[in-house]
Order: sequence, then structure tokens, then C-alpha cells
Amino acid sequence: MLRVYNTYIHIPFCEKKCNYCDFTSFKISEDSSKKYINYLLKEIELYKKKYDLGQIQDSIYFGGGTPSLLSVEDLKKILAKFYYDEKTEITIEVNPKTVDKNKLKAYKELGINRLSIGVQSFNEKFLQLLGRIHNSEEAIRVYEEAREVGFKNISLDLMFSLPNQSLKNLENDLEQLFKLKPEHFSIYSLIWEEGTNFYRDLLAGKLKETENELEAQMYELIIEKAKENEYDHYEISNFSKKNFKSRHNTIYWENKNYLGLGLAAAGYIGNRRYKNTENFLEYYKIIEKNKFPLAEEEILSPEEIKQYEYLLNFRILNKKIKPRSEDLEKFEKMVFEGYLQKVDNSYIMTKKGLMFFNDFISNFV
Ligand SMILES: C[S@@+](CC[C@H](N)C(=O)[O-])C[C@H]1O[C@@H](n2cnc3c(N)ncnc32)[C@H](O)[C@@H]1O
Ligand code: SF4
Repeated sequence: MLRVYNTYIHIPFCEKKCNYCDFTSFKISEDSSKKYINYLLKEIELYKKKYDLGQIQDSIYFGGGTPSLLSVEDLKKILAKFYYDEKTEITIEVNPKTVDKNKLKAYKELGINRLSIGVQSFNEKFLQLLGRIHNSEEAIRVYEEAREVGFKNISLDLMFSLPNQSLKNLENDLEQLFKLKPEHFSIYSLIWEEGTNFYRDLLAGKLKETENELEAQMYELIIEKAKENEYDHYEISNFSKKNFKSRHNTIYWENKNYLGLGLAAAGYIGNRRYKNTENFLEYYKIIEKNKFPLAEEEILSPEEIKQYEYLLNFRILNKKIKPRSEDLEKFEKMVFEGYLQKVDNSYIMTKKGLMFFNDFISNFV
């Protein structure tokens, strides 16, 4: 039986959908979350027959959606299905409006040792535009309360390249971010996802995309300020203090195995990649029949595994990548175009590769 060391658990509920977000999440109700947790627990039991979950996990990640909407009791029931100790990195994504000091304390007591707080911006105007349910003060308060109850590994999630955001607006967000001194932060450039309110407003001409040049200046500003504040820029959008890289997310970028559980979750075990259904009814119906609630499944050939490895590994900065002999020509072309640099028999991404990552990576798709 293949062993599982890293687990992702998707909690597909939110209090309200943010205007830019297309993650699989729905409005929460007490009934729906109760039912969901029961089926999630059944899904875990099914996987226990397929894979060996009997060892201490390296990482467990509650993502969403808004996992911080769950009751502590529910989180406890899920965690009870796994083996973990104080060395296991256990992360929960937290929306500031959904927790208080008591809940944070209870997380700590459960063994959760890493928080990823969704801040997005410290500017009220942008928080409202994004459709967030919290204000900046609440985000800062939750961060401080988490410190008070003893969390020593906190990540903050921000976004940039927001509609009408100026370089100065971003600079102010970064200033506030660095004042808080989190161990880790992620900052993603806004993606205009189809089906979101933002996308509708973009098509209607009510919102405008940021010019490429300004977006590049913003990204450079983030990199520069992060360096000044002694953060290691270790992945395209992720920054950490020494020894605080996200262990769980690094599994993805290293193309290593993880079990994905819950609605719409993806997983990669052995040479098998899969994605669960995004439909609640289907999720329940399939599990009822003691089957895995899959929507997609592929068994990867060695070539496909390498392909994924390139796509994911290039996200890790300064990672030395060894091409297969049949890919050498492509790598040399990337050197010629300035996206890659040759170091011994390996290749690392240049600043141009980083700045124009999407153009660069499209050569490998
Ligand atoms: C799925 S959310 C989970 C966090 C939690 N639900 C919250 O928002 O507070 C993970 C992160 O993805 C980022 N994100 C979501 N939609 C995005 C988009 N359209 N473009 C860029 N980043 C996005 C946000 O920074 C968000 O915090
Ligand atoms: S950004 Fe987070 S809180 Fe907002 S809708 Fe998406 S998952 Fe929910």
C-alpha cells in the first residue's frame, strides 16, 4: 500500500462569495456543513483501504473556501482520523471575520500550528471593492490575537494589481504587512476569473485591468521591499523568513505526492493524479456507494510526470533543473531568449523568466 504523508482537505463554504474568487465554495448553512463533514469522514475511511494513512503526517492543510467557518468540534473529528505530532505542519486558512481569540486558542489546543490569514489588502476601499466581509482593523486584530494565544507560524495572504490600485497604494499595504512581521506571506496578482463579479464588470467596462507595465513595477516593488525586510523570495508569489517556507505547498511545487480530500480537491499519489467532483449531490451520491468521488483521474506516463515536474519546479526560485536529453534543445532556446541560465549541467530561471513567467512557462505546456 502506498503511504501518505501530506494531506489537503477542502472546505467548500464561505459566508459570502468575494467578487474576484472562483474557488469551489458555497454559502454555508449549519445543515450543509454537518452533512458535508459526515461524508468527508466517510471519504477518509474509504482512502484508508486504498492507501496507508497510518504514519505521522508531514503536513495537513485545511483549505477552502473558508475552513475557519467550521466548528472546532468538526475540525477535531477530521484530525482524529490522522496521526500527527507537534512536528506535523498543520495549517488552516482563516478569514478574519470568522474567528475570535477563543477559537484561535482552540485551534492551538487541537495541534494546528500554522495560520494562513486572508487579508488581501489593508486598504478599506479595496477591501470593499473585493467584496471582503472584514475590514483592515479586524484582520490586524485577528493577527495580534493569534500571536497572543501563541501562534509562531503565521502567513498572510494579499493580492496586488487590483483595479485602479496605484504603486503608492501597494506600498502602503506592504508597509503595514512588514510592520506585522509575519513569518510568511503570499501575494498574488489578481486573476480575472470567468464567472466572477469582477469578470462581469470587466466585460461591462466598469472595471479595468492593470497595464502590464504597472503590474511589472508592482511585482518589482514587492520583491525589493521583501528583500529589504529580509524575506526569502522562494516561489513566484511566496515569501518567508528563514525556516518558514510552507512545507505543504512546497510538496506541490516539488511535484511530490499528497492526498486531496473533499469537494473539488485534487490529489497526486504514486503516478495517479485525480480531481474530485465539484458537485455536492454527486459527491454525496458516489461516497454513498463506497466509491471515490472522482471527476477526473489520470495515470501519468514517465514523460507526463517530467512535464508536470518542469511546470511546477520552475515556480521554485533558484531551483536547479536537469532536463531530459530530449528536452535539451528547448532548454537551450530558453537560455538564448534569456529566460534560463545554465549552471553546471542544470538550468535555473533568470529574472526575465520570473518577470515573464507565464510567457516563459507556456514553452513547456
Ligand atoms: C481560496 S483563498 C482562501 C483564503 C480564505 N478563503 C480567505 O479568502 O480569506 C486563497 C487565496 O487565494 C487568493 N486568490 C483568490 N482568488 C484570486 C484571484 N482571482 N486572483 C488572485 N488571487 C486570488 C487570495 O489571496 C486568497 O486569500
Ligand atoms: S477569497 Fe476566500 S473568502 Fe473569498 S470567496 Fe474565495 S475562498 Fe471564500
